[in-house]
Amino acid sequence: MSKLVEPHGGEGLKALLEPPVERARELSRAEGLKKVPMTSRETSDLLMMAMGAYTPLQGFMGEADWRGASVDMKLENGVFWPIPITLSCNQDLADQIHIEEEVALVGVEDGAVMAIMQVTEKYTPDRNLECEHVYRTRDTAHPGVQKVLQQGETNLAGPVTCLSEGDYPEKYPELYIRPAQARAMFQDNGWSQVAAFQTRNPMQRAHEHLVKIAIEVTDGVFIHQVLGKLKPGDIPADVRTQAIQAMIDNYFVPGTVIQAGYPIEMRYAGPREALLHALIRQNFGCSHLIVGRDHAGVGDYYGPFDAHHIFDSLWVGALETQALKIDITFFCNKCYGMATGKTCPHGDEDRIHISGTEQRAMLSRQTDVPLEFSRPEVIEILRNYYRGLEDC
Ligand code: ADX
Repeated sequence: MSKLVEPHGGEGLKALLEPPVERARELSRAEGLKKVPMTSRETSDLLMMAMGAYTPLQGFMGEADWRGASVDMKLENGVFWPIPITLSCNQDLADQIHIEEEVALVGVEDGAVMAIMQVTEKYTPDRNLECEHVYRTRDTAHPGVQKVLQQGETNLAGPVTCLSEGDYPEKYPELYIRPAQARAMFQDNGWSQVAAFQTRNPMQRAHEHLVKIAIEVTDGVFIHQVLGKLKPGDIPADVRTQAIQAMIDNYFVPGTVIQAGYPIEMRYAGPREALLHALIRQNFGCSHLIVGRDHAGVGDYYGPFDAHHIFDSLWVGALETQALKIDITFFCNKCYGMATGKTCPHGDEDRIHISGTEQRAMLSRQTDVPLEFSRPEVIEILRNYYRGLEDC
């Protein structure tokens, strides 16, 4: 019997990827269907369903689930779900599709067929309502809001059969770990209490400290990074994975962490996204999600600890996976070591904070990044990356 947390929804993992033997036949059948192009975010959501990370969803949401997820953080059947997972298209195409028709979902970049969906519903969502509830803003400068407002006007809903995982498995053979595989790895390691560390950045010492706090109170940490699309200026996944590996090889006890990645595209929805991150990690078998300062935030749309507070608003039984809430982490000159807002009594003047932008400038200008902030092995990898950018 597994001691890991149960997949969300209580009915086991639902990985929607068709078994390989059926795939070729279904792909050729899909060629004869109407094609619905997906945005990169919709494609990433489909890949999440394919691997089982969005258990118990069976496809893109209908209107009742869309509204429930947006307003009350629950599906029509009462199951907790904090962010709508929807597929949009323009009105012209929607008008040509009839209810119960099967359509082929294709990637926006290469037009490759990725799934067949049986359309059970068409509806026009109130996109402003979605933005106000999920993102707490309608500001078009917010990258997540921008994407919602740019969607086609009609949502198509229905169950999907996934036929492809894109190029992720070839591109990231070691990192692309599906929920069932993660669960097997945890069990092989003898882990039952596992914390996930969500990240989209190369790990600085603040990140290292968060992970080490979690190692102290669990059996191991799943360093789980975003492999989907990020916003301009974020470090690309291949550079980030090297930097994280350099940190693991040099500063962690072997066998205490696993590095992995998953195909989600960030929405930057702060607190609501922290909840989605926890739900996803429950499917991967993680009992905890590390939630630090401004988790999944962007700009100053969210308070630094809004993502902590939102977990306290959940009803009993909403989610098994718990937030491991950690205060801001930093190196303090007076403590002469890493500390958090909860453990360090000194002032800001003694704490070393360097923003991503400041660090980028230091690396590009070839000035030294303080060793209190970042490990030298990580700095070296990032410096090479920025040097390469300047040569282009
Ligand atoms: S993100 O998905 O939350 O945007 P990011 O890589 O920026 O990823 O942060 C990863 C995790 O580390 C998040 O839980 C975030 O709250 C936390 N975090 C990052 N920096 C700090 C810090 N200095 N102090 C506390 N938590 C932090």
